[in-house]
Amino acid sequence: MERVLSGAQPTGLIHLGNYVGALRQYVQLQHEADCYFCVVNLHALTLPRDPQELKEKTLDVAALYLAIGLDPKKATIFVQSHVPAHTEAAWLLQCIARVGELSRMVQFKEKSKGSAESAGVGLFTYPVLQAADILLYQANKVPVGEDQKQHLELTRDLAERFNRDYGEVFTIPEPLIPKIGARIMALDEPTKKMSKSAESKWNNISIMDDPKLIEKKIKRAVTDSENQVRFDPENKPGISNLLTIYSTLSGISISELEKKYDGVGYGQFKKDLIEVTIEFLRPIQERFHELRHSGYVEEVLKEGAERAGKVANQTLSKMREAMGIIQI
Ligand code: TYM
Repeated sequence: MERVLSGAQPTGLIHLGNYVGALRQYVQLQHEADCYFCVVNLHALTLPRDPQELKEKTLDVAALYLAIGLDPKKATIFVQSHVPAHTEAAWLLQCIARVGELSRMVQFKEKSKGSAESAGVGLFTYPVLQAADILLYQANKVPVGEDQKQHLELTRDLAERFNRDYGEVFTIPEPLIPKIGARIMALDEPTKKMSKSAESKWNNISIMDDPKLIEKKIKRAVTDSENQVRFDPENKPGISNLLTIYSTLSGISISELEKKYDGVGYGQFKKDLIEVTIEFLRPIQERFHELRHSGYVEEVLKEGAERAGKVANQTLSKMREAMGIIQI
């Protein structure tokens, strides 16, 4: 059986980009593979955070995992920091990672705003902790959006280097990047990706947005002046992005949607997309509210940490052994 691991940062509420690019795949995969999904709260520390807010958001993201349909009987759901093996494995991998390869990470360049001198060391070594998350579980498949492709390549490089220098310990993982929706763009600036950390609230639709806000955000979404619903990401990034969202939330293919809105114009298209989005999110939001303060989320995470810890500790032990770290 295939082994799957993935995770999301609790740095804000999950948005439609996260859902379409990654979390939607988690839900499908839990039926076919041995799945581990974590809330990567240690990664969230790589930029300044309010401590109380970080605690709340960690539980929010875990509750959202359940609300979108992850079943703790099928998949192991846990918080990264509850399995201390992640940080130790990250240290061991840091000792084989190179400054040059980490300096080439696009996300580091973006998040450090080009100023490596004042950037946090954690931000720099971030992808090594991500590699530890993946390699500890011997995952062969990692469902992610396109923005994580480079981090996955680094993970593979580190695993191959470790196996070559210390003996075969790791499975070499492959990214699972969806064909449609791997890079959902910002609603207000469709040439940039949708992001949790965007300054403008018009950038994304959070899974928890209420109907009024969803309506406003979609109405304000940038399109073009052609008024023709056609999928053409290069020349029509705004409408193509909305088509992608519409298609994944409704299950109607993009070409069928093009036909449906042929000659109809953006007004009706947006009106229908508002409806589709609200109706898609309604049951998720209801379930989130039922679960979030019920005590169930904490229970799931406790059991998840135990299950994940067993698997992670086995690999960590092999890593120590291979590198000459004595164990008693
Ligand atoms: P994060 O928290 O930024 O995003 C979670 C997942 O959502 C995907 N994603 C997108 N997909 C499509 N369009 C977008 N606009 C968009 N924005 C985000 C991301 O690719 C991701 O799959 N470094 C990771 C977290 C991480 C991780 C891991 C992932 C830590 N350890 C191990 C996989 C395996 C991150 O910051 O994701």
